[in-house]
Amino acid sequence: MKRLATIVVFFVLIICLDASAQSNDAKMKIFLDNLMKKMTIDEKIGQLNLPGSGDIVTGQAGNSDIGKKIKEGKVGGLFNIKSVAKIKAVQKIAVEESRLHIPMIFGMDVIHGYETVFPIPLGLSCTWDMKAIERSAQIAAQEASADGINWTFSPMVDIARDPRWGRIAEGNGEDAYLGSRIAEAMVRGYQGNDLSKNNTIMACVKHFAMYGAAEAGRDYNTTDMSRVRMYNEYLPPYKAAVDAGAGSIMASFNEVDGIPATASKFLMTDVLRKQWGFKGFVVTDYTGINEMIDHGMGDLQQVSSLALNAGIDMDMVGEGFLTTLQKSLKEGMVTVAQINAACRRILEAKYKLGLFDEPYRYCNEERAKTEIFTDASRKEARAIAAQSFVLLKNNNNILPLKKSGTIALIGPLADNKANMPGTWAVAAKFDKAVTLLQGLKDATGDKATIVVAKGSNLDADERFEKRAGMFGKEFIRDMRPAQEIIDEAVNISKNADVIVAALGESAEMSGECSSRSNIEIPQSQKDLLMALLKTGKPVVVVLFTGRPLALKWENENVPAILNVWFGGSEAGSAIADVLFGDENPSGKLTATFPQNVGQVPLYYNHKNTGRPLGEGKWFEKFKSNFIDVSNDPVYPFGYGLSYSSFIYSDIKLSNTVLNASKNITATIQVTNTSKIDGKEVVQLYTRDLVGSITRPVKELKGFNKIELKAGETKTVTFTISVNDLKFYNSDLKFVAEPGDFKIFIGGNSRDVKEAAFKLL
Ligand code: BGC
Repeated sequence: MKRLATIVVFFVLIICLDASAQSNDAKMKIFLDNLMKKMTIDEKIGQLNLPGSGDIVTGQAGNSDIGKKIKEGKVGGLFNIKSVAKIKAVQKIAVEESRLHIPMIFGMDVIHGYETVFPIPLGLSCTWDMKAIERSAQIAAQEASADGINWTFSPMVDIARDPRWGRIAEGNGEDAYLGSRIAEAMVRGYQGNDLSKNNTIMACVKHFAMYGAAEAGRDYNTTDMSRVRMYNEYLPPYKAAVDAGAGSIMASFNEVDGIPATASKFLMTDVLRKQWGFKGFVVTDYTGINEMIDHGMGDLQQVSSLALNAGIDMDMVGEGFLTTLQKSLKEGMVTVAQINAACRRILEAKYKLGLFDEPYRYCNEERAKTEIFTDASRKEARAIAAQSFVLLKNNNNILPLKKSGTIALIGPLADNKANMPGTWAVAAKFDKAVTLLQGLKDATGDKATIVVAKGSNLDADERFEKRAGMFGKEFIRDMRPAQEIIDEAVNISKNADVIVAALGESAEMSGECSSRSNIEIPQSQKDLLMALLKTGKPVVVVLFTGRPLALKWENENVPAILNVWFGGSEAGSAIADVLFGDENPSGKLTATFPQNVGQVPLYYNHKNTGRPLGEGKWFEKFKSNFIDVSNDPVYPFGYGLSYSSFIYSDIKLSNTVLNASKNITATIQVTNTSKIDGKEVVQLYTRDLVGSITRPVKELKGFNKIELKAGETKTVTFTISVNDLKFYNSDLKFVAEPGDFKIFIGGNSRDVKEAAFKLL
């Protein structure tokens, strides 16, 4: 009886919630119908315009070029303006001085935090901790919304298998399943369950689509791939974000099937709206429409009409819509219905954000003073950063270090504030970032002596160093001969107990338009590293990077490597936490580290080919391999060490036969055999042995990050259903095909236990 009552209450609740959603939608429709009746075509086109903001000077916004356009109803929103005062000033013009008083939407690239900066997304993904990732987005939303922002150009969910591509730093690595879970977590974090709350912001999923598959990893380059690859390996994270309710999508710069994404009806209408039921709005990337002139798609009028016809709603920066759509309408290249649809979607977003009720909802000076870069948020950022680091090597347990003796901290990244937050940290206050030197000093106090030297320039080539130090992240160049700089570091290290070498990439060596054809640590730093190793002292490399690097030599020669990506505003403290063992590293790679750039793209979920290399073999003639390098990565997907050590039991399956009505469970015992409490990411993979299309050798299907006390054993259970085995076949039907499967469970994609089952 009690159960029945609970069920009844549950259903009544669902019906009520549904009815209230419907009545909200109905209210919004009536409101927008009324508003749109009053709008001229020019005002509607104005809503589709997201111009570059220029330098908005508080107090003079009204006299600026932008101010004039806002008054004329020619601006739908602005982006990357920082501060409540500035945003309020321009919003005031829209609300008080434009004819219909329509508020603007305010966007920003809040990519991995606002002023409190979290690790770069690639680093965050290595936490495999969805709660932590969601929380980072929530804090970012809290801070951004306190400073006037209500729309973020994040999450970036582009799958990337090519570490030459600098923007691999901004995404979640190479795997579509993990990428999908992260996409959902980010959307939840930003948007919460009510967009109109003043501490949630609208997400913008980017870059739709397949931007990460640019040929040769060269940014903005051509993308071309089969539909089965697209649907199975690249589209899932975008779809997951849409299913999670993301309010907007950003089109990518690249072409797909010979058509720039910005003009792709297939992507923007067929996939996004018809197949996935997306109801939000689509914005171009920066001048994405204008760039189609260089793609060779026509003049500005032509490409603008192509974009609108494809299903683009908002034009970022280029003003192609603003300047040509009226003319195209007269000439029959676009229709009023298309302009209406785009305008309505943008107004709907503003409505959902609560801007029509209260245009200054996100402009609260008090919140701006008290909710940004708080001690509490910084504490969380520090803990999350520590989880993102990946311990790549730790011979003889060099790590954790003791908080005593003398530590020589050497390297161009040892004491550099601006390079800690990483790429795309628009709102970061570099002067407040914690460097590694600061982190070590704070952690040791007067218990240890820390001696410091730069040891080398970031790179021997001054011009390269300039390109790698843009946006206020310049390196002060040491003009002495390289050997003199190294000698100084070696001398300083002579009396040390341990050398911590802070090496790798600068923040701007990855990110947008920072592709590299050489993915090794720059030679100047390698020379330094060799000299440090020659001292015979224990050397720990703290590796800063925004991409997987080719670390074959380092893996063979350096006893300990801790990969710290770019850890955000609290990076230095978090690194110290891990180096000294106050935090036990638990990050696992989400992108494969190759031996050299020639192996790229190298990813764990590849196909078998008709001529696979024999198990354990290095080279076989007429097999799919190279004559000069094995097929192995240096560090595989899912890999990462801990100060603890874990062993896995064999897998126990509840049944070796799975069918549509009955799931199976796979159980495994994981034991922490060490004396240190730790965390382990237990990973589940499957392999479909026979398919109507070829299937990957492994596919991630689940993971569970568990905490194990020293000596503790935990049982981890995964449920496998027929849905987990589905894929898009050559007709692009999402199906599971009966047959034999393998299942693998382990602490990375290479070292796994194995079992078999059948799908009936
Ligand atoms: C990037 C986007 C970004 C936009 C706005 C573009 O160059 O590709 O990711 O959101 O600029 O800043």
